[in-house]
Amino acid sequence: MTDKIRVGILFGGRSAEHEVSVRSARSVLEAIDRDKYDVTMIGIDRGGRWLAAGDAARVLEAGKVEGDDLLPAVLGYAGERELTVQNGAGPGSVSSQRLDVIFPILHGPYGEDGTVQGLLELADVAYVGSGVLGSAVGMDKDMMKRVFGAAGFPQVDHTAVLRRRWLEEREAVQREIERDFDYPVFVKPANMGSSVGVTKAHDRTELARGIDTAARFDRKIIVEEAALECREVECSVLGNDDPEVSVVGEIVPASEFYDYEAKYIDDKSELLIPARISDETTEAVRDIAREAFLAVEASGLARMDFFVGVETEEILLNEINTLPGFTPISMYPKLWDASGVSYRELIDRLIQLAMERHRERQQTSTDR
Ligand SMILES: Nc1ncnc2c1ncn2[C@@H]1O[C@H](COP(=O)(O)OP(=O)(O)O)[C@@H](O)[C@H]1O
Ligand SMILES: [Mg+2]
Repeated sequence: MTDKIRVGILFGGRSAEHEVSVRSARSVLEAIDRDKYDVTMIGIDRGGRWLAAGDAARVLEAGKVEGDDLLPAVLGYAGERELTVQNGAGPGSVSSQRLDVIFPILHGPYGEDGTVQGLLELADVAYVGSGVLGSAVGMDKDMMKRVFGAAGFPQVDHTAVLRRRWLEEREAVQREIERDFDYPVFVKPANMGSSVGVTKAHDRTELARGIDTAARFDRKIIVEEAALECREVECSVLGNDDPEVSVVGEIVPASEFYDYEAKYIDDKSELLIPARISDETTEAVRDIAREAFLAVEASGLARMDFFVGVETEEILLNEINTLPGFTPISMYPKLWDASGVSYRELIDRLIQLAMERHRERQQTSTDR
């Protein structure tokens, strides 16, 4: 019991992707190897409250909790690369547990974007996935595209519009977009995921509506060229400085594009493994996936998403997801399963990678 690795699973969160996170956390909790790991659940409710023990279990079951009598989870630095989590008002109160590694199963802002990673970095504790920089660059679609562009990866053209400017100069913004892009265009909040706030605009009216929608979720909005006549293919990356890449899968969305409904509500979208692309294109996709993962300094895991022309097989890199959906039926674990790494083994590998990277960072001197 004492030599088990103590894992804290951080889930829920103050993001539109709260539900997705809860589902992933439940799956990890079911599958994780209990002979090897002691698990502590730390739930973040929609209001941003951190809850441990019984209240975390309620977040897990109900997806959200109500009430003013909740016991907060207090994370504290315990020294020696450990974090303690207390369920109660302070030291000495209710249960206090030491944690060796945190598995943040959080999607979107305040989870996948480097904020939580910064907190864990300050606490000097090991955690699964990318660090502050990789998470932040991967989350902000504008910054991500700029980095990918500088590294020479093929992608659609885009522009970024600040909400503030949109509110002040709608006409000018529309004119500029229409000067630089043909319809249809995709409009997205720069920092979001799960297709929340993403729309396809076929004309000026839809463009304005789309920007208004995206502006609800972020202060920065992306407008980009549509990749037409394309398949959506995805590939999973696992590792730190020398990552492995999975087989390539394909999404066949039931709707006009892979929107929130198609992802999580209706069951009609299909996942095909392998993707219906040539061996040559598959290898090229895998190479770009690996290089792009390293380009944004991601670590641990990421799912890399692409568009591939149905006829042309032209490859366009769409995005990196540094904390992809993680239920057993999510693409990230499914691609690993198809590549010979089971869900349980994947969890194990991710925790080991987290500890490895943390040990590596410990070698950096903080003295002169
Ligand atoms: N430029 C594009 N061309 C064609 N389809 C797109 C484009 N951008 C987004 N989509 C569609 O919208 C979905 C969500 O967009 P994406 O950029 O992946 O945002 P998210 O981070 O929310 O997943 C994609 O899976 C795809 O179906
Ligand atoms: Mg996506």
